[in-house]
Amino acid sequence: MQKLIFGNWKMNLSADDAVALAKTAGTMPIDASRIKAAVFPSFTALASVRAALQGAPVSLGAQDCFWEKAGAYTGEISPSQLRELGCSHVLVGHSERRQNLNETDDMVNRKIRAALDANLTPVMCIGETDDARRRGLWSNVIAEQTAKGLAGIAVAGTQNVIVAYEPIWAVGTGRACAPQDAREAHALIMNSLIEIFGPAVAQKNFRIIYGGSVDARNIGEYLAMDGIDGALVGGASQRGASFAELVAAAQK
Ligand code: PGA
Repeated sequence: MQKLIFGNWKMNLSADDAVALAKTAGTMPIDASRIKAAVFPSFTALASVRAALQGAPVSLGAQDCFWEKAGAYTGEISPSQLRELGCSHVLVGHSERRQNLNETDDMVNRKIRAALDANLTPVMCIGETDDARRRGLWSNVIAEQTAKGLAGIAVAGTQNVIVAYEPIWAVGTGRACAPQDAREAHALIMNSLIEIFGPAVAQKNFRIIYGGSVDARNIGEYLAMDGIDGALVGGASQRGASFAELVAAAQK
């Protein structure tokens, strides 16, 4: 099964910088039987990044979406609008949105539903705070986020949902989660998915990726772990050289 290497460019690039980075990404040697790459630029750069990636084996995703299809929702962007721009994936519930914009599990749930309805693959981000990890509550937090984020959602057929385990203390800090600890968290998430959807759907329609200070040096250790299907990478995906190194290391 291909490993997923997803680049979250956050709010860090101008449209021109995003196009330049996309052009570099488009020329990276990618063995499509081993990895699947996708980039998640800002909304404002989606159309130009799509054009820059024409013909390249790199998919396009957005960093967020709204849960309604259309209507009086000034400033929001619907999943079908993202499809129209060539997106196949959308991040939902990134910890930076949960923290800065008070995004709740209920909002995440509605966004996942809407994304699936529009034929997008949602990437549901979950993860505990530093405090929860220190108090030994990490497993409760991620089990609860998984259950609430996916409550009442039917996943079937060719629909896919990706869960990104991104402990908040590891995101953008350089303090990557020990690969063994990430593996333990992934196993727990898979158990929650099995409880909710049953083993067949959990194993066929879901993938679980790790995020938080992943780079070319540590990516191999994560990908070698059972139950880690790929990585969601912020900082190391935001410059051509480090992104190319990361993608090369992921295929070693
Ligand atoms: P980071 O970000 O790789 O810079 O830690 C990961 C993310 O926010 O998805």
